[in-house]
This record gives sequence, C-alpha cells and structure tokens, in this order.
Amino acid sequence: MQNKMMLTRFVRSCALCLLAAVSFASIAGAQTSEVGRAQAVTAEHGMVVAQEAIAARVGVKVLQDGGNAIDAAVATGFAMAVTYPRAGNIGGGGFMVIHRANGEDTTIDYRETAPGAINAKSFLDAQGNADPEKSRSSALAIGVPGTVAGLAMAEAKYGSGKFTLAELMAPAIALARDGFTLADDTADALPRDWPRLKRWPSSVRIFGKADGSPLADGDKLVQPELADTLAAIAKDGPQALYQGPIAEKIAAGVQAAGGVMTADDLKNYRAIERAPIRGSYRGYTIVSMPPPSSGGIALVEMLNILEGYDLARESHAQELFLMTEAMKRAYADRAFFLGDPDVVKIPVPRLTSKGYAAEWRATIKPDRATPADDIRAGGEVREEGRNTTHFSVVDQFGNAVSNTYTLNFSYGVGLVAAGTGILLNNELDDFAAKADSPNAYGLLGDEANAPGPGKRPLSSMTPTIVLKDGKPFLITGSPGGSLIINAVLQVVTNVIDRGMDIATAVSTPRVHNQWKPDIVFAENGVADDIVATLQARGDTVMVRRLPTSANSILAAPTGFIGAADPRTRGALAAGY
Ligand code: GLY
Repeated sequence: MQNKMMLTRFVRSCALCLLAAVSFASIAGAQTSEVGRAQAVTAEHGMVVAQEAIAARVGVKVLQDGGNAIDAAVATGFAMAVTYPRAGNIGGGGFMVIHRANGEDTTIDYRETAPGAINAKSFLDAQGNADPEKSRSSALAIGVPGTVAGLAMAEAKYGSGKFTLAELMAPAIALARDGFTLADDTADALPRDWPRLKRWPSSVRIFGKADGSPLADGDKLVQPELADTLAAIAKDGPQALYQGPIAEKIAAGVQAAGGVMTADDLKNYRAIERAPIRGSYRGYTIVSMPPPSSGGIALVEMLNILEGYDLARESHAQELFLMTEAMKRAYADRAFFLGDPDVVKIPVPRLTSKGYAAEWRATIKPDRATPADDIRAGGEVREEGRNTTHFSVVDQFGNAVSNTYTLNFSYGVGLVAAGTGILLNNELDDFAAKADSPNAYGLLGDEANAPGPGKRPLSSMTPTIVLKDGKPFLITGSPGGSLIINAVLQVVTNVIDRGMDIATAVSTPRVHNQWKPDIVFAENGVADDIVATLQARGDTVMVRRLPTSANSILAAPTGFIGAADPRTRGALAAGY
C-alpha cells in the first residue's frame, strides 16, 4: 500500500535513538513497579476525576448543587487554572468531548492558534534548520490562548442554565485571591521547571520566594492578578480576555519577550464546535476528538486494526505486540496526513474505516516486528510527561465530559503576561517546524502540520467517551504528549478486551511506540516475559517511565466507579 513507500525525505539518522536504546538495554529485563495502584472510588450520582484534588472537589460541589457535567467541567477547568498551574490554564488551549443526556455527542476545539505573523519559516534558524530554541523556549512559541473561549462556549451551549459563568468561576477566583497550599504534583514540578519560569520577573513574582527560589511543598500560592483577570471574565464574559485591557497586556507581555502576538490575534480567536470522530469497537461506540487533534483518528484506526484479532484469547505479551504494531502504523499516518482541518484536507473517512484497518492488518506478521523504516521514518522521544491535564466528569442526568487541556510544557513557556497573572503556553512547538525535524515529543509531521498564520498545531490530546447502548460507559483521556493516544488505547482495551476493573485498567503498566524512533517503550513494571516476547519478535525495547495520567470513569450497575491515575501525586476521583 502507498504508506510503505512514502516520505523517504523523512529519513534521518536514528543514532540518537539507538544510543539511548543501548544505554537502557541493561535494564530492559528489569521489572520495577513504579506505577502503584489506583483506588477505585464509587459514586451513585456523579463524579469528577482530575489530576488535582481541590479542583476535582470544586466540580463535585457543582454536581451536588444540581449542575450537569458541563457545568462541573467548566468549574473544574477554571479552578485548575489556579490550583494546577503547570497544565491547568487560561493561557493555553485544549479539547472537550461532550455526551449529552439526549444522546447527542459533540466536541469543542479550543486549541491555540498561531498569531498572524507566524509563517512556515518562523521556527527555522539562519541555515533553514528547525530551531527548537525558537519553538519551545522563546515567546515566538506562544499560541493565542483558547481555554476561556472554549469553556465559555461549553457553558453557554451545554450548561444546565442553573448557574451563571460567574457562579462557576467563583471558586477559582477565591482560590486565586486567597491562595492555597502548594502540594503534590504541582509542588514536585515547580523546581524542575524553574529554569524556564525564572527568566521572567513577572513569573518569579508569583511562583518564587523573596530569595529567588521557587515556592515549595507547603508554601502558599496566592495569585491576585489572576484573580482580577478571572473576575473580569466572570463579570464581562470571555471578551474580557480577548478584547480590551487584558488582551492588550497579553500582547504587550508576549511582544516584550520577543514574540509576535497582537491584540488583533486575540480579538480574532474563536473556539470551534466540531463533530466528533466516531468509531466502533466490539459493539461499543468510540467518541473522540477530531483534528486538530490526532487522537480520535489514531485511536479509532488502532482499535479498527486490533478488532481483527481475538485479543482476549491472546497472551498479554502477544496482545501488546499486536498493539505496538498497530501503534506504528497509526502514528505513521498521523505524521503524514494530519494537521489543522481548516487548512489541510484530511482523509478522515478512509483513515477511520474498517477497510483501511484491514489493509494495515494484512501487513502485520504475528511473530515478527515490522521495522519502522518499512512503514515510514523518524525522530526521538523525550520524557515530557504530565504537561497537559485531563479530567473526566459524569452527572446524574446522563451527561458526560472528557476534557484535556494544556500549556504544552509544564508551566508552558514559563512567562506570565505582566499584570494578568496568566501563564502562557509554548504550544506552537506542536507544529512540524520542518518536515524532517521532530518536535519535543519526537513526533514528526509534514506540510499538513507546517506553521502558518491562524493555524492550529496538531495535538495528541485524546479526550474520549466510550458508549455502550448509547450511554456513557467509559470516560477517559490523559496528558503525556505523544504518549497520550496509546495510554487511552490501553485503558480502552484493558476494560473491553481484558475485562479489567477501572482501577486495574488505569494502573496496569503500559507500552508505547510512535513509529519513530523504532523502539517499543515499556513502562517500568511491564512484566519481563512481555519485554522478552517483544524482543524475540525483533523489537528494540526500552524500559522507562511513561508519565501519563489517565483519570477515568467507568459506568457501574448503580452509578460510577472512578480511578485517579496513580502516576500523578495528588490526583483524585471524587463523587457523591
Ligand atoms: N502539547 C501536546 C499536545 O497537544 O499533544
């Protein structure tokens, strides 16, 4: 098929990957269990599972007060912008998948857009090579934030109507103004990410101490300027961020740091409601995010490939082998075909069809790994992890929300726009700065995902709702950059094929392959016999951390069972 012969221009040395593989080879057989075990939490009426506990409780309170899942998601989303600043945000963007009690499904794309002055050469150096410094560390990397428009759109269209936006934002405003005690994953991450934040006095003033060191576990984080910004949005709606003094301060802050965003870029920003990607898997319906996320297409493509095998009868090792073969093929398609759907034509029906999956399946040998070069070519994988955040919500009425949003890197580019309290993203690294150059997650892309004015960079975020007989069955998603899609895949197959309870499905160590580099990454804790089987099939296997956080909810005969991913310190499943 055409996929086998394409993109020779992508070919680049994979010496780096091989070096990494060699240095990890000595531990490839080791079996450590770093993941831990999720606690299953049951709830009769409604539930929120999020990476940060204060914000999860904010959402549950909304549910208890008669709100629906969309109300609770909006309240949680704004609260996490305060309590989980490494990824919760109003300075970034994301995606929300909604199942409504009336049976309808929809999605809201609030991905950041490139400022009007960004073009295909914006992230290249003088020699025409991709310049990671520009796309990851500089203010040029900042996309126009979409979160406020997205959450406001969700509430206006699908909220219960029992609450005003201001009421849903009130807990976030209070948490920003009064402060809260820094703890768990937020506190763990801040010292690691401090080098990026400490470049900007406006960020140090909020996240640092008087001696210039970062706040630590147990310190109070107070964000009065963020409180003022949130209060202005609560009072005047999303236009308070996109037009007027706050927009002007954001543009001024970005430009003072060397970026190109203007007040007009903010004024022109729009969240977009899009039809979901739909698929089926062994009688269940998959509802997931369409482009500019690659997640829904890749997830459905992989599930379609795997549906042709009786995975429940395979050994766990063979199941994971077949899964990694499906991963290679879907990620190769991701690199070539996917980008901003408003700019490039994407063959969605074909990529998500059972027939296309059958063609791919015919290329899989059950006992021999397919070299990535026989599919297409590639890059490296960095251990970027929980830089994005996912939460799942269900209510007593039959609504469900799966929401993933991000600043890209942990604490984004590290810049707070002075006078706004808003921490800004570095999302534009998710473009393919150049066709043969990997982004921070080692992902390759082609012209379909080239930078351009107003474009949305391709994402891996995969907020997903699985329906059974038209009702929410599994709500899942994860942070983790390129790891996200495969984490979601494994939660889905663990539940459907292996009949795991949700705590086990979330906790079970995962595998990852993204086509290039030609390596299967096995999470610490993957059993030795699985690693050995993958190696015997010809795969290079590297055992390491795979920092994802699949905070998920499964329907139960009476109510719901939730599992906060044990990979995140402080994640919480809470319900009533
Ligand atoms: N910034 C990571 C993603 O959107 O996939």
